[in-house]
Amino acid sequence: MARVQMYTRFERLWHWSQAILVISMLITGFEIHGLYTIFGFEQAVDLHIIVAWILLGLWVFAMFWHLTTGEWKQYIPSSANKMMAMARYYGVDIILGGGVPYKKTRQQKLNPLERMELLLLNVLILPIVWISGLLYLFYTSWEALGLGSLSLGTVALVHTAMAFAMLVFLVNHLYFGLTTSKKPLGYVKALITGYEDEKG
Ligand code: HEM
Repeated sequence: MARVQMYTRFERLWHWSQAILVISMLITGFEIHGLYTIFGFEQAVDLHIIVAWILLGLWVFAMFWHLTTGEWKQYIPSSANKMMAMARYYGVDIILGGGVPYKKTRQQKLNPLERMELLLLNVLILPIVWISGLLYLFYTSWEALGLGSLSLGTVALVHTAMAFAMLVFLVNHLYFGLTTSKKPLGYVKALITGYEDEKG
């Protein structure tokens, strides 16, 4: 069976390090929010901020990679019909049986709904997480920066809302990624080895 290289070394490194770092942000963030205690509040804040800077570095690097390789085009939305067909697969055909209505290739790695999901993550959730997170971090400099009229409560609320959106994204992303490959965990294996059987 033919094997195609689906993910480069950089993409695999980027995907898994981002996954670990974002999950760390969720764990420490929700501890800061007061949902549970694992590290203790002060240590959770320190870890949250250290991981945030590492993530920022990774994102700047990944953004540069997407722009220079043209891989950003993977996030251009598909037609409404294609998205509806995919929604029908995830909602109905996945249970009743029926093929996946799209063919994964190196040029089109994401199915129509994954494209939309990642577009929303990249243009909406992540920028708001970053802006609210940085505002939160530099709270003591608001006056000097001319942002004195901002309310810390609102920034905290927006940041927390985006943290929940991030959690919803993660669950959805797992559902999308784990249920479309022909072999169990086919896409996870490809994201580790880089290679995928043409039959998924
Ligand atoms: C990757 C996704 C992120 C998630 C899921 C996340 C989640 C959270 C959550 C749930 C809280 C608690 C909010 C509250 O109860 O008021 C929080 C607090 C905070 N986050 Fe994030 N965050 C993320 C990214 C960032 C980034 C990128 C930064 C900064 C560059 C940042 C900086 C902060 C700061 C400064 C706090 C407040 C800490 C304190 O109370 O002293 N976060 N975050």
